[in-house]
Amino acid sequence: MTKAKLFEPVTVGPLQLPNRVVMAPMSRYRSPAGVPGEDMARYYRRRIEGGVSLIITEGSWVPHPAASDQPDAPRFYGDDALAGWKRVLNEVHAAGGKIMPQLMHRGQTEEGPGGGARRIGPSGMVGSLGVPLKQLDEPASLSDIEEVIDSFARAAQSAYQLGFDGIALHGGHGYIIDQFFWSATNLRTDQYGGGIANRTRFACEIVREIRRRTAPHFPIMMRMSQWKLHDYSARLAQTPEELRDYLLPLVDAGVDIFDFSQRRFWEGEFGTDMNVAGWAKKLTGRPTMTVGSVSLTNDMFDSFQGHASNVADNLAELERRLERGDFDLVAVGRALIADPDWPRKVANGAGADIVPFQPAVLKQLV
Ligand SMILES: Cc1cc2nc3c(=O)[nH]c(=O)nc-3n(C[C@H](O)[C@H](O)[C@H](O)COP(=O)(O)O)c2cc1C
Repeated sequence: MTKAKLFEPVTVGPLQLPNRVVMAPMSRYRSPAGVPGEDMARYYRRRIEGGVSLIITEGSWVPHPAASDQPDAPRFYGDDALAGWKRVLNEVHAAGGKIMPQLMHRGQTEEGPGGGARRIGPSGMVGSLGVPLKQLDEPASLSDIEEVIDSFARAAQSAYQLGFDGIALHGGHGYIIDQFFWSATNLRTDQYGGGIANRTRFACEIVREIRRRTAPHFPIMMRMSQWKLHDYSARLAQTPEELRDYLLPLVDAGVDIFDFSQRRFWEGEFGTDMNVAGWAKKLTGRPTMTVGSVSLTNDMFDSFQGHASNVADNLAELERRLERGDFDLVAVGRALIADPDWPRKVANGAGADIVPFQPAVLKQLV
């Protein structure tokens, strides 16, 4: 089987990459007091040495008191944390790779922020796995909303000033941006709630403010998903028309690349064979990235439940979709935790040497 397309150089928006293999954002929770250490720099550098062209880092908190629920996840603010990030960036660049931090804010999720901070989100709707959403908090005020928008823009500005290759916004999985998108978590009746155009306003304002404080060609990637962490069967868009209504304002605001998160890349959307990244590309004309169980026999939730995953031969199917032009980039997650040399082995036809993913590696993450 050839994987010609996966290893072809590609230009996506303002980014030029030597191949299409991107490391998916994966939280490590190994940054004491939120400061990325040398271990993180080594970890990402190793993936570039293995053949990844672009790293999307683990989620990193924007400078807002309610952003975080995990002190060991890295902050994207404060001199100490930014110095740690600069070291990560330098290592990745020294190895010839590119890197974008994933910027995130939890919003109104079950865990809640640390340090006694108030949970901030559109309407106070909080869900947990298998339990219906409940209104537990007050809706965010307009000044709360302004502060969160400013916090994303400040973090992005720091990334730009440090010399990162762009930023990736976490707009999926049920965190704050997604809470504004989704009608079940956004019950507002002001300009940030109601129809899709209003529910997309929060994300668009973040993107516009980032663009204003960075540069016209600074790459902005946006992750989105149909599913939510507390509800795997949730769907943001029921039809292609609804998806288009979410995406076109984001294109207009300045998103360069859409990263559509799904558990299995081969699952089609809207009753078709084409997956959601494919639909996003078709509807917007913007480059997109797919993700989900590339080269693995089970999905990430199986891994979180402690199940091992064998190496799956699903790359011919991936290649077929790449050839068809459904998406431009392919994010690989757990396979790269298990085997940093995954890209080189696949490119060289040494698939039999790939180290399979065992959940125990989540305890090491080296
Ligand atoms: C340990 C772990 C941590 C993750 N952390 C994040 C995260 O911080 N941000 C995010 O957007 N997705 C996160 N994800 C989801 C991955 O980015 C990716 O979408 C998912 O693992 C599916 O890809 P895979 O099947 O190749 O592993 C995480 C996944 C794993 C396994």
